[in-house]
Amino acid sequence: MAYETVLVETRGKVGIVTLNRPKALNALSAELVRELGQALDAFEADSAIGAIVLTGSEKAFAAGADIKEMATKGYMDVYLADFITSGWERVTTCRKPIVAAVAGYALGGGCEVAMMCDFILAADTAKFGQPEITIGTIPGAGGTQRLTRAVGKAKAMEMVLTGRMMDAAEAERSGLVSRVVPAADLLAEAVKAAEKMAGLSLPVVMLAKEAVNRAFETTLAEGVRFERRLFHSTFATEDQKEGMAAFVEKRPPAFRNR
Ligand code: HXC
Repeated sequence: MAYETVLVETRGKVGIVTLNRPKALNALSAELVRELGQALDAFEADSAIGAIVLTGSEKAFAAGADIKEMATKGYMDVYLADFITSGWERVTTCRKPIVAAVAGYALGGGCEVAMMCDFILAADTAKFGQPEITIGTIPGAGGTQRLTRAVGKAKAMEMVLTGRMMDAAEAERSGLVSRVVPAADLLAEAVKAAEKMAGLSLPVVMLAKEAVNRAFETTLAEGVRFERRLFHSTFATEDQKEGMAAFVEKRPPAFRNR
């Protein structure tokens, strides 16, 4: 499928989506968000793909929602269209693991989309921020919620209320990103992590992702119960038998996604 605003490629079992509106620092226009959703749909449907990397350019992962598109909208425009959460949330409904590889700016909706991914790998050039307040609005795709859960109230409040950006080192210190790598290695490192996941049992990886995500939605006791049910259910898979037998027999496992 030909896209205008994203590039799509596969490397082995890894699907890569690159946001590609260089003239607008990958601002998330309606078209880009639609195409991102279509690209994710295609990778989800492709049984040869086990993990996804979402990335942008050297200068920007994405500098936010498209301000030029938003500027003249009225309340009824945004309310009736449920602007802009519908569509954007496709990233959160992705069942295959998805890594955000962030270099340069991840601002506003760009930071929000990165936080919708399972984890963020940051280049040393990455800058994260929720600057909506400086243009007279507030985050609208989960920024006030996901950022607060990731970095805590003090940092989230300062970022959301003043628009201050975090650099990569602070983002790592604060728990927003899993690791910082040199910019030149960012995509290779993200693909390596994705390859690792894609080489495992997809159904078990999906269960693991579901279990961690549950931590954001429920109490500790309920979450632990939920985890135990999913843990038990891995024993219904052929891949659990294969993984443990391979360990005992001192050979690499051959998972079959069954
Ligand atoms: C539309 C954008 C854009 C955006 C940059 N551009 N960000 N266009 N929407 N969010 C465009 C600029 O207009 C310009 O195009 C080109 O990209 C290059 O940007 P410059 O500003 O010239 O680059 P630079 O001086 O390097 O500054 C980079 C920057 C700045 C600091 C990232 O562009 C910036 O502050 N951008 C806006 C960041 C922001 O406020 N994001 C939050 C958006 S609100 P032209 O053609 O004019 O030269 C949001 C709400 C989410 O995301 C709600 C979700 C539901």
